[in-house]
Amino acid sequence: MGNHRKIILIVAVLAMLLPVGLLQAKTDIQVAGGNIALAELHKANKVGCVECHGVSEKIVVDDSEKGINIKCIECHGALSELSAKSKDPINPHGSHLGEINCTVCHSGHEQSRVYCNSCHSFNLPIAGGSSEIKKIVVPSGKSTKKSAVEKCDVVVIGTGAAGMTAAITAHDAGAKVILLEKQPITGGNSMLAAGGMNAAETSFQKAKNINDSVELMYEDTMKGGKNTNDPELARILAKNSASSVDWLTSIGADISDVGRMAGASVNRTHRPTGGAAVGSHIVNVLRKNAADRKIDIRVNSKVVKILENKGGKVTGVVVQGKHRGEYTIEAKAVVLAAGGFSANPEKVAYYRPEFKGMTTSNQPGATGDGVEIGANAGAELKDMKEIQIHPTVAAGSRILITEAVRGNGAILVNHEGKRFVNELTTRDKASEAILAQTGQSAFLVLDEGIRKSLKQIDGYFHLELVKEGNTPEELAKVLGMPPEILAQTIETYNKAVDAKNDDEFKRSDMPLALRTAKYYAIEIKPGIHYTMGGLKINANTQVIAKSGKPIPGFFAAGEVTGGVHGANRLGGNSISETITFGRIAGDNAAKLVKPVKK
Ligand code: FAD
Ligand code: SIN
Repeated sequence: MGNHRKIILIVAVLAMLLPVGLLQAKTDIQVAGGNIALAELHKANKVGCVECHGVSEKIVVDDSEKGINIKCIECHGALSELSAKSKDPINPHGSHLGEINCTVCHSGHEQSRVYCNSCHSFNLPIAGGSSEIKKIVVPSGKSTKKSAVEKCDVVVIGTGAAGMTAAITAHDAGAKVILLEKQPITGGNSMLAAGGMNAAETSFQKAKNINDSVELMYEDTMKGGKNTNDPELARILAKNSASSVDWLTSIGADISDVGRMAGASVNRTHRPTGGAAVGSHIVNVLRKNAADRKIDIRVNSKVVKILENKGGKVTGVVVQGKHRGEYTIEAKAVVLAAGGFSANPEKVAYYRPEFKGMTTSNQPGATGDGVEIGANAGAELKDMKEIQIHPTVAAGSRILITEAVRGNGAILVNHEGKRFVNELTTRDKASEAILAQTGQSAFLVLDEGIRKSLKQIDGYFHLELVKEGNTPEELAKVLGMPPEILAQTIETYNKAVDAKNDDEFKRSDMPLALRTAKYYAIEIKPGIHYTMGGLKINANTQVIAKSGKPIPGFFAAGEVTGGVHGANRLGGNSISETITFGRIAGDNAAKLVKPVKK
């Protein structure tokens, strides 16, 4: 793009951002060009430091940048308002990230960046910046504040589903909680969760006459994990899954739709009505509940160390704040819920050299700090080599195509137009089969009927990942495969659906035949998705030391732990784990403390 067009673009974006009154006063904006920090753009429009920071000198910005964000919203409106005004097909202000801070993307004193591109690759214009992702650097250094030591009852590390659930539960049990997040947004990988949450014997299953049992969920989980799971933890997962669905429902979530993901014997994957993505929904519900309770949540706040006293009891954490620098929080209990390490290519390759260079479906903060700071505090690690690749990440991207697409009926075909695997086998087997095909990729093939059965599929059209044809033959031509072979593959599969018998690959659940035009395909490749290994915990979520004994005051929940899933996690079991074990951790951490008066 030429400089002239860049300038027009920046002025156009500015026009959307600046308050109407100011714009009317300033129609002759002089903009210096491309990558100019917003402070200068504001200055060019006679909006000075005071308007944003509220004071003229000694400007102090808190790590969460709350004060600045209030000012952004006062002038430009909340994200929901900006989103409602947008006519663009890709609308970053209305994305699945929810009501995040404006400063996540827009920066006053450095180049702005489009956070969406941490996972996507949109060519989005942004005032005073670029759509290229820039690494977030948390500055080192001591706190500039006089009192660099704070106190609370329970510190929770990580704002995914496990951390937020633990924080809400501990708060409700009377504890004063501080919840810390190193990224500029809350939600972690949990916010990306797509297909749903597994649970057995729920009221939603009963309403749909689905005959499930805790024992069957336990057996499926153990079988999926190649029987290497910690049986006690797997049983806790299955036994508490229905009450975790009830808990989420009681705090405002809708997970009433029930479908299926690979490795499950019956439909037990719970998600919002119509089959919408589970993660952004429940994270928004958890965020709202944490905000309603006024829980102290701090983003841009990375925990770098877990503190222990001479007796080995955990006593708090050291935090590296984006603006504040290093400081300490003393606490009576610490819950570590910092997620996995799928977005840390070096760590993945260390444990599994054969996965070197593979794409990942994870958010950029999933770098495994949790296992490091946990191990430094004496925790025993287990199953670290058990890294899961998800069979269906859209080729050339980091966008996960949910297993629920296959659960609702899609098939996998190779570049020659043939099926090659039971689409609902466990992820390890499906991934291995795809990697053995031409180009180490394959196509998910579906029709209009399957598209209509799952809301999430519309998102893939939106992201331009889908190829289409009016007939299987037409689709095959678009994909560059022999038309008669794809047509034959679909016909054979449809006959198997009619006969309820998949002779070729023994797929047991075939909910929909592929007979309704149009026909669609998404090219997929396996990508690093989930790390089964992590801190060893017991049934009370206490972190276990190398000595085999629990470390006093130290709890962990969610993907940072190891043991629940053994060698291979079943789709839908992680969100279930985060809620169940997050609740146990929050409760037990709160029991340890004599509540501080709020
Ligand atoms: P996370 O949600 O990852 O949260 C951990 C948080 O800790 C992060 O925000 C991270 O930035 C923060 N953190 C890390 N280090 C530090 C530090 N040093 N200091 C402070 N904060 C720190 N599972 C299902 O069951 N069903 C699904 O449908 C599903 N879909 C998925 C789709 C995608 C694209 C992905 C990536 C995963 C999916 N999963 C799904 C898996 C599941 O979402 C995750 O395993 C689960 O959400 C992990 O939750 P968590 O709370 O343990 O960690
Ligand atoms: C998916 O929706 O395919 C991901 C589900 C999971 O990882 O549990």
